[in-house]
Amino acid sequence: MMKVFRHKAYFTGIHVLLFVSLLTILYAYSPTIRVKVKEIMDPADKVYTIAHRGASGYAPENTIPAFELAAEMKADIIEIDIHLTKDGIPVVIHDDTVNRTTNGKGYVKNMTLEQLERLDAGTWFNEAYPMFARDKYAGTTIPTLDQVFETFGKEIKYILEIKDSAPSPGIETLINESIQKYDLEDVVAIHSFSAGSLRKFHKINPDIPLYQLVWYDYNAERVSETYLKEIKSYAVGISPNFQGISSAYVAQVKNFGLKVMPYTVNYQLNMDKAYSWGVDGVYTNFPDRLLEVIDTNRDNAQW
Ligand code: G3P
Ligand code: CA
Repeated sequence: MMKVFRHKAYFTGIHVLLFVSLLTILYAYSPTIRVKVKEIMDPADKVYTIAHRGASGYAPENTIPAFELAAEMKADIIEIDIHLTKDGIPVVIHDDTVNRTTNGKGYVKNMTLEQLERLDAGTWFNEAYPMFARDKYAGTTIPTLDQVFETFGKEIKYILEIKDSAPSPGIETLINESIQKYDLEDVVAIHSFSAGSLRKFHKINPDIPLYQLVWYDYNAERVSETYLKEIKSYAVGISPNFQGISSAYVAQVKNFGLKVMPYTVNYQLNMDKAYSWGVDGVYTNFPDRLLEVIDTNRDNAQW
């Protein structure tokens, strides 16, 4: 009996040893496997590339072409700003007015969808950035949230921003209805500067991850635990302005169990810094630049 047991243990031991040796060889000689092993051991190591208003450094912000380009560049997430029209339709535009990014004038909340859809949301970009101008941008329109969901489905992830300036009544419910309609619950997150709006959304649908957008005037080193506790009661993370944070801030917030995803980082030097601080994602107008920084860091990593 004892002999059989010893034989079995010996046999198992040999197999474990062979398996561990194989893993060690793969780990040592394959960078892809190294990255995978690191991801399995530390899932937080995934740094999301978030295309801020789409690939808005290269295409008119918050338009279908800007989102298409972000998807082509292999960004993980597109960030989308949402306002409500006069007739209560969630549309994708950053400012309260259409003045800066279209050929029209007026407040989004005072215009119907039909009025908004007549506007050209791309020509301003071609004129402002001739080096990135493309014929197809001229005449592109302000999309509805539904149009974006319809176009991209689960092809990409989304972070929707409920704009903070007096969130329209009911915007949270309408956004949630669109998410349900397209069955996108597992690929959508929401952020907002308005804690009130986020709390409201959390009550409507506690399954959607929320991020509190914040702005710091000076480099934040440490923040109060009461403040972090309050945020943690409804959100999974904080999205601060990159210029307002430090490595100590990132470490504190992450140790508290919240994610950190700074905005808006467009220079590779700063992307590199954010990466080395261990952030969970970075908002950028130039997703290709960030993906390059992430790749370089991973290639150079010594495990
Ligand atoms: O990504 C965070 C950012 O979207 C918040 O600022 O003005 O670009 O909407 P803003
Ligand atoms: Ca935004």
